[in-house]
Amino acid sequence: MLPTFVRATPDGTERGDFLALDLGGTNFRVLLVRVRNGKRRSVEMHNKIYSIPQDVMQGTGDELFDHIVHCIGDFLEYMGMKGASLPLGFTFSFPCHQKKLDQGILLKWTKGFKATGCEGEDVVQLLKDAIHRQEEFDLDVVAVVNDTVGTMMTCGYEDPQCEVGLIVGTGTNACYMEEMENVELVEGDEGRMCVNMEWGAFGDTGELDDFCTDFDHAVDNNSANPSKQRYEKMISGMYLGEIVRNVLLDFTSKGLLFRGRLSERLKTRGIFETRFLSQIESDRLALRQVRSILQHLGLTSSTCDDSILVKEVCTVVARRAAQLCGAGLAAVVDKIRENRSLPQLSITVGVDGTLYKLHPHFSSVMRETLRDLAPQCDVTLLQSEDGSGKGAALITAVACRIREAGQH
Ligand code: GLC
Repeated sequence: MLPTFVRATPDGTERGDFLALDLGGTNFRVLLVRVRNGKRRSVEMHNKIYSIPQDVMQGTGDELFDHIVHCIGDFLEYMGMKGASLPLGFTFSFPCHQKKLDQGILLKWTKGFKATGCEGEDVVQLLKDAIHRQEEFDLDVVAVVNDTVGTMMTCGYEDPQCEVGLIVGTGTNACYMEEMENVELVEGDEGRMCVNMEWGAFGDTGELDDFCTDFDHAVDNNSANPSKQRYEKMISGMYLGEIVRNVLLDFTSKGLLFRGRLSERLKTRGIFETRFLSQIESDRLALRQVRSILQHLGLTSSTCDDSILVKEVCTVVARRAAQLCGAGLAAVVDKIRENRSLPQLSITVGVDGTLYKLHPHFSSVMRETLRDLAPQCDVTLLQSEDGSGKGAALITAVACRIREAGQH
């Protein structure tokens, strides 16, 4: 439960051009966000996706941040804005300890990132140091933002009832508006503050042990961060394919699948991508997708029964993920309802993430679970368009507005 120092949501008077960085999801992106106020209130965005090579992700912190700054330079040139010094919002989707909006001390890497020399450091400082090393441009880093917070803010710009942000993508996490009197780490009792829950780490002290299967243990043991992020590993995109692959391995060794014969490829970690789950579940006609995916995995002589069983495994693994995620969300919205002593709460949750967006049944299963577990809350799930990048720019815009107001 990490305070984010986000207290105010956009009020529509913000304006200006902002840069945003988005690190920690499926893609690394640099964005230019133009926020207009008044009658023609709008948010216009330009962005470019950059890859972060595996060796940079797992190399040194300096290499990682030099690469990021190099990408910013390339983006400014691409936009014809070389030399511009714009306020920057940094969506950095990892657990950070914040004492103010423009500082974030990385507590630990998640989701396969490993760059050395970053844990325990302020990522804004690491970014500034890298900018100074390149001596090409200067940037005013105004805010470090978790992707959940960016998503909540983006949806909040459209719908003021949005007070929860949820990500179900490579990782999973949520944030929500908590009463200041309950935020013990920050002085003051007035108003509310957004709390980054880092709920992916739920279960790390044994809370989920009764629910974990042998397949979950196998996925956890082979991950970059064993025994950490246990809830995340049962829910998010980085891991569901691996859970399915482990089930298929087990079924094959018991002779229930593929006539008991494994392909070399299926033995390879990470080969069963989570997008296959979404594709397989979208498959209605003659299980064609399942078969072509199995062929791609080197399982050329699979039978119709194999396809049916593989599809069933995908359904069960994704359904469990959506139910677990829905259970977490039910607890959050009901906590907000209790905070406000309301018999019934109407609330919007801003959601982003590739798994949530691409999987055909994830959101409906989550809704079902919410209805069962939080019957006193009417929850609207609002899918955000580009929440994390846009949100960082909006938070930066709000901070600049407040800063300017303070100067007058
Ligand atoms: C991981 C990160 C968290 C982020 C989530 C979704 O759980 O620790 O900060 O919000 O992934 O990207």
